[in-house]
Amino acid sequence: MKPLYLAPMEDVTDPAFRMLCKRFGADRVYTEFVNADALVRDIASTTRKLTIHDEERPVAIQIYGRDPESMADAARIVEAAKPNFIDINFGCPVKKVAGKGAGAGLLRDVPKMLDITRAVVNAVHTPVTAKTRLGWDENSLYLENGTPFIVDLAERLQDCGIQELAIHGRTRSQMYRGDADWTLIGEVKNNPRMRIPIIGNGDVRTPERARECFEHYGVDAIMVGRATFGAPWIFSEIKAGLGIPGYRNTGIPQTMADKVAILKEHVLASIQWCGNDERKGIVHSRRHFAASPVFKGLFDFKQTRIALLRAETVEEVFKIMDEIVAKWGN
Ligand SMILES: Cc1cc2nc3c(=O)[nH]c(=O)nc-3n(C[C@H](O)[C@H](O)[C@H](O)COP(=O)(O)O)c2cc1C
Repeated sequence: MKPLYLAPMEDVTDPAFRMLCKRFGADRVYTEFVNADALVRDIASTTRKLTIHDEERPVAIQIYGRDPESMADAARIVEAAKPNFIDINFGCPVKKVAGKGAGAGLLRDVPKMLDITRAVVNAVHTPVTAKTRLGWDENSLYLENGTPFIVDLAERLQDCGIQELAIHGRTRSQMYRGDADWTLIGEVKNNPRMRIPIIGNGDVRTPERARECFEHYGVDAIMVGRATFGAPWIFSEIKAGLGIPGYRNTGIPQTMADKVAILKEHVLASIQWCGNDERKGIVHSRRHFAASPVFKGLFDFKQTRIALLRAETVEEVFKIMDEIVAKWGN
């Protein structure tokens, strides 16, 4: 078993995208992070983020916040949506979250992080998991006694009752820069005191890298984030590359036309997710066109790319995509 999970990503991992990733072999999908205080205040745009469908299971709903009580209340609300897991975000680096003491901000207040974890675990029957980073910055990667910060933290989180831990191999101050460091993820996994599954995350884009991460670092699962943009089939590509039965040459779109057909399907599903607002759904899916490997490295593509990223109707987007296939397709 070499499970691959779709990483939680704000404004990206909505039900439409999660279901596509599931279809192409994601073994678990995560919602984007959901603000605990807004859930408790019953803000409609936030409670909508709890929408899950049976076809995408197993699914984790991720929450974030800085107050143990409101996180526990939020977890109870989330539990009513019946996710398979409730995941706590201890990794978000952005100022509006970490700067206010939530997400990765809790890497600077471990006692509070543990209070939150215990409060959430005690509030619900659903399995609770957590996702975090290696530490706050490069100066806090090791404790005074030489133990890696994350090795110690992982044990403490396990003691609070979480069922699994996902680790993104960067510090908060790295944000998304530099290369993810998997060595410390491996140290957590190899700590004989760890009993819960460890999910490794950071810069996995190819079957070769996935194989290395499973083999060298021994992780129980890999979480894939940015490499899924405009390429939800990456899960089946990685599985085929890993030799997982059933995925060899099945379910992987081979030609540009096949891939574009899936991107079109995603556009339509995005529009549906955006309340059938055509423009909104297209703007919402643009990140995927911009980053899709389908449109990378095409000769003399600049003007077409600009047109694709400006198009505001399905008719326009599909017409440009058809032209791309006609001109550059294989
Ligand atoms: C646009 C974007 C949004 C993200 N939102 C979240 C989030 O809501 N919760 C979370 O835990 N991580 C979030 N992340 C971090 C990813 O889950 C993941 O840890 C990170 O991208 C590294 O994995 P990758 O190299 O495979 O992309 C986000 C990342 C990106 C690029």
